[in-house]
Amino acid sequence: DSYADSVLTSASQTIPNPTNGVKRKRDDRFERTATNASSPPRKPDAAQNLSKSQGNGRLQNGKQGPAHHSTDNSLSKPLNEKRKALLSARKALPIWPHASEIRESLRGVRDVMLLVGETGSGKSTQVPQFLMNETWCNGCIAITQPRRVAATSLARRVAEEMGTPLGSSSPASKVGYSVRFDTSTSPSTRIKFLTEGMLLQEMLRDPWLRQYSAVIVDEVHERSVNVDLVLGFLRGIVTGDNKGRRGAPLKVAVMSATADIEGLFNFFDEGYAAAGKIKSQIFTPGPQADGEDSSESSWSGLSSPEETVGKTKSSGDQTVHIKSTFISTCYIEGRQFPVQIMYLPEPVQDFVETALRTIFQIHYKEPMPGDLLVFLTGQDTVEALEKLVNKYAQTMGPEVPKILTLPLFAALPQSAQQRVFQRAPPKTRKVILATNIAETSVTVPGVRIVVDSGKAKIKQFRNRLGLDSLLVKPISKSAAIQRKGRAGREAAGQCYRLYTEQDYTKLETDTVPEILRCDLSAAVLTMKARGVDDVVGFPFLTKPGREGLEKALLQLLQLGALNEDGKISETGRRISRLPLTPALGRVIVAAADEEMGCLSEVIDVISCLSVENIFLNLNTEDTKEQAEAARQELYRRQGDHLTLLATVQTYAAERSDRKAWAEKYFVSHRAMQNVMASAPQRSTAHSLSVDHRHNQLTSTQDVRKQLRAQCQQQKLLPATACFDDHNTTTSEATTIKILKCFLRGFASNTARLMPDGSYKTLVGNQTVTIHPSSVLFGKKVEGIMYNEFVFTNRSYARNVSAVQMDWVGEVFAP
Ligand code: CDP
Repeated sequence: DSYADSVLTSASQTIPNPTNGVKRKRDDRFERTATNASSPPRKPDAAQNLSKSQGNGRLQNGKQGPAHHSTDNSLSKPLNEKRKALLSARKALPIWPHASEIRESLRGVRDVMLLVGETGSGKSTQVPQFLMNETWCNGCIAITQPRRVAATSLARRVAEEMGTPLGSSSPASKVGYSVRFDTSTSPSTRIKFLTEGMLLQEMLRDPWLRQYSAVIVDEVHERSVNVDLVLGFLRGIVTGDNKGRRGAPLKVAVMSATADIEGLFNFFDEGYAAAGKIKSQIFTPGPQADGEDSSESSWSGLSSPEETVGKTKSSGDQTVHIKSTFISTCYIEGRQFPVQIMYLPEPVQDFVETALRTIFQIHYKEPMPGDLLVFLTGQDTVEALEKLVNKYAQTMGPEVPKILTLPLFAALPQSAQQRVFQRAPPKTRKVILATNIAETSVTVPGVRIVVDSGKAKIKQFRNRLGLDSLLVKPISKSAAIQRKGRAGREAAGQCYRLYTEQDYTKLETDTVPEILRCDLSAAVLTMKARGVDDVVGFPFLTKPGREGLEKALLQLLQLGALNEDGKISETGRRISRLPLTPALGRVIVAAADEEMGCLSEVIDVISCLSVENIFLNLNTEDTKEQAEAARQELYRRQGDHLTLLATVQTYAAERSDRKAWAEKYFVSHRAMQNVMASAPQRSTAHSLSVDHRHNQLTSTQDVRKQLRAQCQQQKLLPATACFDDHNTTTSEATTIKILKCFLRGFASNTARLMPDGSYKTLVGNQTVTIHPSSVLFGKKVEGIMYNEFVFTNRSYARNVSAVQMDWVGEVFAP
């Protein structure tokens, strides 16, 4: 205690309190609340019965275990050693004893399995391995993830567990992945992790998913628009003629970290009923679970060997009864240690500052080991806090353990993301600063303490503006519970909530599915491209409002992606095959037009828009001024798009030291490496076509190369196209063409200058302000066009360019 007290005192001396200038005693900032998570969740009765009644393949005597992979002589020795080393960890996972139950659940006519298990129970890594040796499984197993980082890191992990090389690195590799701008598979891939978006893309090429024996839909509780589409299409396949068109039936597993599978059960069940197959007796829900106990309210699995599956279970005074010929359900008990929750006594304004103080309070007070996981809202707050923590960490005395800050957000390159999975060096505490990517998608080992800002950046469709904007919003109770749970994976933990207990009680119970709150144009285009004419009649798990669907149809019509009759046009088809939003896809198609002929330049700009921020955010006035002066060479008066183009061009032309180049211009070298790979090479059609070999788990995305290749595949660019990386100037005529192409995609994101100096949107007549990060910030031009709309305390337009109003007229004219 005396150690803790003394360092605590020194901490209060080194950490200023910018809010009120008063140094507060660290301990009084949090009220302690004991949680009821003092014992691991109870396994429902029926699940217990099930365990008793099922002995097959269990590890009861430690002799027989599921999913043993035969020792493959072809495995290289180090890979095999690693596989063996990981086997004991796999056997310790909560899911391991359920292997035969899970396999049983998809045998015979049972084509759909719903599986609930807490994050970390082993669903994503083990279920595909359990299923891959089933007799029905002679193709590949697809397993979808809402995020790239999860798909790639899971693929890497499962490859290690199986002792197989990863992806395209070897033709014998059994595990691969496919994410936007990066695919790595081999001819022998049996398990493929892919983002939901990539599976949708594959469905456009093969609507019956013939190369797959099973599709596992993971993290369904996240309820992205894409997962809802995937589910709708899969329901169509399994409840329809699930064999005839494919030759063999498709098996579908849907996995969730939260207990609510009643909706999913009914969703598939109704699909079978609509297809004229027997309708199951409907699931009767138990009493509504109290949020903190959500795992305890889960219900049992069923897997009797008969073809008709049924199970009853008492839950409070209600009886849950499910009976379905085709759908089975499994419940995996969680492995959760108690987590003590601390709330703030009163609300705070600035959660970044509060997080900073809390991190150091914990670091000085809580003994090692025990890493920290801090949930923030986005890249901006992660980077701001990273700088602050690093700064104050330098003032710590030598007796204090070190702090290693690790950012974790979706746009971060894979190599940087992988660092969070490595154990910290001795006498060092990892402080992971994450967005909600770490909520359920990613399991970070070593975390004992969670700091939860209680906020997340969410996409919200704003009707008045007719576009998506990113808003910082309070999270839902279920998200708060997930975040808390991350602290109790390996031992008892703590969760510091940077809000009051009263605020917690006011949170929404569940996160609203994305489909109810975002722009649906990409979703509608995907449906149209897959031949769904009546989008209103599509089997949605949650039906979006008619108004949202109609808006999306109108936008697609305006982009020329749909014909007047509502059918997809050739342009629409081209857009749907590009890994971009319909608006950006439209820009590409416009630029490929012979008259325009500026596709190479447009790809450069879009590559920048597709990665994290190119220009570093600077937080001191001094560095800001320095950066502004240095960047003048790159800035273009026409706005951000041409500035980004100039930046890529000069970076590409730099042959010697690109890192130094980036430092000189205060540009993020990390981001630039994602735009284009470091090695200066002349990119030609030839080098593109042979470059598949390098499609391994690389540290950079090289978005530019991927987009060029996609455009060549689609014949938007000639296969022989030669790209000139020496060119650093763009003619005035080309400049105008580039802006006109962007206008073709973003005509509805335009605003005109008003006599009072403000900008008003053409659609909706709303006031928008140019974001301070824009080169046009504070400038007055006739009209502006922007890609993004951010709402904090005001409405900001980001990625802005100056446009002439008559160009806008040209686009709107038929
Ligand atoms: O899907 P679920 O959240 O149920 O668990 P999982 O992703 O299969 O993870 C099970 C365990 O595998 C984790 O607790 C980690 O110990 C390990 N794992 C890992 O080390 N690296 C990964 N990229 C993924 C999982």
